[in-house]
Amino acid sequence: MACAMPYPIAPGRFAMQAALVQEMPAARSLEAPEPDHASPACRDQLGRPLRDLRLSVIDQCNFRCTYCMPKERFGRDYPFLSPEQRLSDAELLRIVRAFVGLGVEKVRLTGGEPLLRKGIESLVERIAAMRTLDGRQVEVAMTTNGSLLARKARSLRDAGLGRVTVSLDSLDDQIFRAMNDVDFPVGRVLEGIDAAIAAGLAPVKVNCVVERGTNDAQVLPLVEHFRGSDVTLRFIEYMDVEGPSGWSQSRVVPSDEIRGMVERAHALLPVTRRDGETASNYLLADGSLKLGFISSVSHPFCGDCTRARVSVDGRLYLCLFATSSVDLRQHLGAARPDEAVADAVRQAWQARGDRYSELRADRLASGKRQYPTVRMSLVGG
Ligand code: GTP
Ligand code: 5AD
Ligand code: SF4
Ligand code: SF4
Repeated sequence: MACAMPYPIAPGRFAMQAALVQEMPAARSLEAPEPDHASPACRDQLGRPLRDLRLSVIDQCNFRCTYCMPKERFGRDYPFLSPEQRLSDAELLRIVRAFVGLGVEKVRLTGGEPLLRKGIESLVERIAAMRTLDGRQVEVAMTTNGSLLARKARSLRDAGLGRVTVSLDSLDDQIFRAMNDVDFPVGRVLEGIDAAIAAGLAPVKVNCVVERGTNDAQVLPLVEHFRGSDVTLRFIEYMDVEGPSGWSQSRVVPSDEIRGMVERAHALLPVTRRDGETASNYLLADGSLKLGFISSVSHPFCGDCTRARVSVDGRLYLCLFATSSVDLRQHLGAARPDEAVADAVRQAWQARGDRYSELRADRLASGKRQYPTVRMSLVGG
């Protein structure tokens, strides 16, 4: 068991904690990778295997979160991808199959808002039917704003969706409506979260992007709200993504500070982070809540980043902050062999050296704030 336990533990009270810790495999080192079933050909320049595909199935969203798609940039005349520019289900599935053949084990469907794509259940069903290189079912997950989840959770589960992550930046209705900027009530997202739990889309994770002066006072209310539930609550540092003009370091609340807010009210136990995971994990010491901190700004996690992203127009991005992409669509023609997509992905991944978050501090220090990055809503975070 690789979990540090700085707090005294009463016997018998922490079954959930023990179970969680035992799930965690021992951390692997990048210098001496253990043999695994991902093809050795699919390690990048820093030795990172290709494991996760984040597939954006639509670039539109019904929210206008101020930190992602601010209204002044993403207005009525914004040139979102047209239906013709979006890949069909058959094309997306061809791409997913190529990734799975290269060792991908988890496919996360993202947007924009993925539940806005028509027929999403059928896409889920066909990805869930795929097998990993060692014969297991491909894990299908989704990141959603939760607005349509109350009526979709059951059908998604039936289609084979494994789990869901819901964005929820505030429990306070006024703050929530202001942050999504379309006046969407928080109650409907909470209903969506309940429906996801009831449907067994477990573990349901809740993501909260914390912005200083906007919703930082919501950290503790969120902790209290989800205590005793099976939800994993994760706080995300506000990142300098393309789109919002208002980003500044002063609006980032570092994870250490957020954790401090929680620790003033509750003792926390650290839990070993899984290789390649975005979050550093903790448990409330009474076992009542799993917490995660996603610290892309203060503690970057590029070192073992195994994530590739594909946008709905068929472009492969090797980093959330990539400045270029690889066009996979050109390999999808009927005359092209199935291996053509896999070859293009393998070649790109092998050349990959991206580690933007690790370099961010230097770039900011040298005044290179205008680093061009891809828009979040195109690659789904
Ligand atoms: P799990 O499969 O549950 O570990 O989900 P996840 O954390 O990979 O996905 P999710 O969509 O919940 O992402 C959570 C947050 O982390 C979002 O704000 C993402 O934008 C951010 N994020 C995810 N992957 C990366 C990454 O590779 N780099 C950076 N900098 N941020 C990421
Ligand atoms: N900083 C951090 N996270 C962001 N997300 C969107 N924009 C940002 C940003 N600027 C997150 C959303 C969601 C995921 C898709 O990306 O909250 O959880
Ligand atoms: Fe908000 Fe997610 Fe939509 Fe961006 S994609 S505006 S974070 S709901
Ligand atoms: Fe991976 Fe790029 Fe995020 Fe670093 S910044 S964790 S390389 S996606």
